[in-house]
Amino acid sequence: YNPYLEVKDGELYLEGVSLKSLAQEFGTPLYVYSASYIRDRIKAYKEAFSGALICYAVKANFNPEVIRVAGEEGAGADIVSGGELLAALKGGIDPAKIVYAGVGKTVPELELAVEKEILMFNVESRDELYVLDEIAGRLGKKARIAIRVNPDVDPKTHPYISTGMKKSKFGVNFETAKEEYRLARELKNLEIVGIHCHIGSQLLDVSPYREAVEKVVGLYRELTEEGFEIRYLDIGGGLGIKYKPEDRGPSPHELAKEVLPLLEGVEAQLILEPGRSITGNAGLLISQVQFLKDKEIKHFIIVDAGMNDLVRPAIYDAYHHVVPVESKGREHIIADIVGPICETGDFLARDRRIEWLERGDYIAVLSAGAYGFAMASHYNVRPRPAEVLIENGSYRLIRKRESYEYILNTI
Ligand code: LLP
Repeated sequence: YNPYLEVKDGELYLEGVSLKSLAQEFGTPLYVYSASYIRDRIKAYKEAFSGALICYAVKANFNPEVIRVAGEEGAGADIVSGGELLAALKGGIDPAKIVYAGVGKTVPELELAVEKEILMFNVESRDELYVLDEIAGRLGKKARIAIRVNPDVDPKTHPYISTGMKKSKFGVNFETAKEEYRLARELKNLEIVGIHCHIGSQLLDVSPYREAVEKVVGLYRELTEEGFEIRYLDIGGGLGIKYKPEDRGPSPHELAKEVLPLLEGVEAQLILEPGRSITGNAGLLISQVQFLKDKEIKHFIIVDAGMNDLVRPAIYDAYHHVVPVESKGREHIIADIVGPICETGDFLARDRRIEWLERGDYIAVLSAGAYGFAMASHYNVRPRPAEVLIENGSYRLIRKRESYEYILNTI
């Protein structure tokens, strides 16, 4: 999962730091991230796609300290909201490396991004073109845009995270995209600079990228012939990662092998927007066993992390590998590992073979660095977890555990 995750004498260490000691010092549930892993992943993308701009998809993990680590390796940011813009800026990302997608950008969000002069707006509808043009004009700026096209490719992943199919709400229809480009050309406060697409997330097979990029390159050629100056080809994110022990997340290099041959003669700079493949396996969630319950048909291991802390199993039926933080060499059982929340969907793992645990033991839920904390909520008035970053041989808190006062403060 992560080359910096090791077992020594039955105990788990991340970048040499004992996870048990972190749990004891900061309490649980606790998100822990490895900076070296994030750095390695950005480097791997930069090596595979030399000359490309890697815009880390902040939605995967928006902690500004995590963004800073990616930025220090040269990454820009892919954002989908005003809040993410502020997170990226706080993480030290240069606005000239920020791209902004999203089907429902609001006027204040667009104004903020226009004022900051971000690299490019990935526009998703005709209405948005008009609104952005009006805002840019009013603020005396030019907004650089790409149009997000929907290449109608099946990414063969979970339907909730397939975004590039015709029936989905994202982007503009591929067949009629040229009309939007022609329209945008008439809007004098917009400058057309790119083409954008994103087909989905957690792609374990890179072949759907080929179809999408072929289409986008076809559009690039047609637009160039019509005199458009396309400087950026943004092919989105979506590379899958290892969740199950038998999975193998494709490397940026494999993606490059699929995509780069299609770009012959293309002069535009390539942009990628990886999120999960940067931070997913950089992080894990530590939780403590509260109770054990033997029911007639099942064992339940009840832990202190619930669907409010990590919602992926509940909403996508996602698999996250779970291991004891400290193995005591006990026998294995098949159990459901569940949280304290009042819903049957509140589980971290089902019918999972795991070492027999006792009250007070800690577990680590792996591959939780992306769409983990980022999707956490206060459901059941539960404070969101603390986050710790391990970097350069030491560790520090990068987000405090929330207090009840904070959640209950309603004015
Ligand atoms: N670019 C755009 C326009 C996107 O919509 C996304 C993800 C990305 C880039 C980054 O994709 P990644 O490289 O992380 O696959 N909550 C879901 C994932 C939702 C992904 C949404 N868009 C999950 O937990 O699996």
